[in-house]
Amino acid sequence: MDEKNRVRFFDTTLRDGEQSPGINLNASEKLEIAEQLARLRVDIIEAGFPIASEGDFKAVEAIARKVKGPVICGLARANEADIVACGNAIKDAERGRIHTFISSSKTHMQHQLRMNEAQVLELAVKSVRHAKAFTDDVEFSAMDATRSDVEFLIRLFSAAVEAGATTLNVPDTVGYTMPDEYAELIRTLRAKVTGGDDVIWSVHCHDDLGLATANTLSAVKAGARQVEVAMNGIGERAGNAALEEVVMAIETRRDLLGVVTGLELRHIGDTSRKVSKLTGYRVPRNKAIVGANAFMHESGIHQDGVLKERSTYEIMKPETVGHSTDNIYLGKHSGRHAFQVKLQGMGIDLTPDELGRAFKKFKDLADQKKVVTDEEIEAIVLLDKGTVSDQFHLVSFQSFGGPSVIPMAAVRVQKGDELIEQTGSGDGQVDALCDAINKATDFHGRLTRYEVSATTEGTDSLGEVFVMVAEGGSSMTGRSVAADVIEASALAYLNAINRLLQKRALKKDSKTNSELMRSNPMQADPEPVSVGGERGVSGEGKGLAGSK
Ligand code: KIV
Ligand code: ZN
Repeated sequence: MDEKNRVRFFDTTLRDGEQSPGINLNASEKLEIAEQLARLRVDIIEAGFPIASEGDFKAVEAIARKVKGPVICGLARANEADIVACGNAIKDAERGRIHTFISSSKTHMQHQLRMNEAQVLELAVKSVRHAKAFTDDVEFSAMDATRSDVEFLIRLFSAAVEAGATTLNVPDTVGYTMPDEYAELIRTLRAKVTGGDDVIWSVHCHDDLGLATANTLSAVKAGARQVEVAMNGIGERAGNAALEEVVMAIETRRDLLGVVTGLELRHIGDTSRKVSKLTGYRVPRNKAIVGANAFMHESGIHQDGVLKERSTYEIMKPETVGHSTDNIYLGKHSGRHAFQVKLQGMGIDLTPDELGRAFKKFKDLADQKKVVTDEEIEAIVLLDKGTVSDQFHLVSFQSFGGPSVIPMAAVRVQKGDELIEQTGSGDGQVDALCDAINKATDFHGRLTRYEVSATTEGTDSLGEVFVMVAEGGSSMTGRSVAADVIEASALAYLNAINRLLQKRALKKDSKTNSELMRSNPMQADPEPVSVGGERGVSGEGKGLAGSK
């Protein structure tokens, strides 16, 4: 592969993507997504923001230890405590990267950092140097670069290279730039930054004006060789450039762009589905590349053309991006081996325990339905993950409702050896069930989001339920799938409560990534979370972060 023309894919689904409102992944879900991203062969996985919480630290550490292939990267603000946490979290990676950033625009420097250019420059240099003590692979980002003074950017990036940065990232943090303007900025920086020829230029685009993909591609034409993207385009506000759009534009229009990628394109579909299921962020039907309609032809003229020759209306083959199915449907006569082969074909790896549980669920479902579709298999397998450490298990429930009765529910919930029975009432059967579950689990929060969807067509489809619950300032998502939507609702609600309890047990300190990004990004936490290692080794951390 021609290194000069190879575009590196830096996936930030687990960091910027996880900053999307309402996304709350636990460590095992993050690991699962990271393993899938490795299958997709992204070059770099930004696994999280280790200083944010013990949970984030542990997730990055676990990914660094277990996921082989891609470079594993952690994010750190330009202060000592962040960099030490990040360095410790990635230290066991095959190849680890620290990504450190500081804002460079006047508005950020004046209103958020309350620093002048010289102070920002000094912190950038100190941070890159400090990061180099942990790894050779250091990325430096000038946050809000597209609204920054270009002359200052040139000085800042030149200093970062001098300090040892190997990748320079030019984020369009607020999704403000336009394709031509962004290309011009990249060209100028490449030409004028001292040492700019020896580093990889990276771009990170947000989609506030719907231009993230266009801006990213324009920057690639101008010489950027790392693109920061997220699966399904998730991320802060309107999201990041969508991985699937950027890679397929590069692959489909190689004639224009003249660059290559190393991605395993057939894993785009399953990665998209996995991210959607685990984050609860649905992919719109008409979404480019990964939407259900992306390869559907509705009008008679189009159908006629495609039947005669697919290229009449298709610029990509659906199977290239993992839209195809193998046309093997499993049913109640299918055995464990066929089930396992099917999972392998879908890119799903399970431990023997997980396989045993998934196979039992599949058999139960196959008893109720003639044919179990790929979507249903994916749903039962994915949604089964992470249930082992649950505090509460739903043993049984009853509910009834209707226009002329008061909806009532009774639940039986197992907690260790204890069997708890409770009843509840409400506006409808789901409300009544939640009331009974609240009493059984002593949960005092409320349901803030409730979404139900069918996994396939037909009235015998499985019902998939996604919920969000909130209690005392924390919120948590829950999911489940079952043939009966009321059962799926009860399971999803209990799942959210269990996950909230797990999160609380893990740590008391928690701040979400977004909360940290919204706080003064250069200010070390007054009481940094304890993550072991040599964190906060000296007062220098505060000095670094707080020097005015
Ligand atoms: O949008 C942004 O500027 C970021 C940086 C941390 C790279 O996410
Ligand atoms: Zn971002």
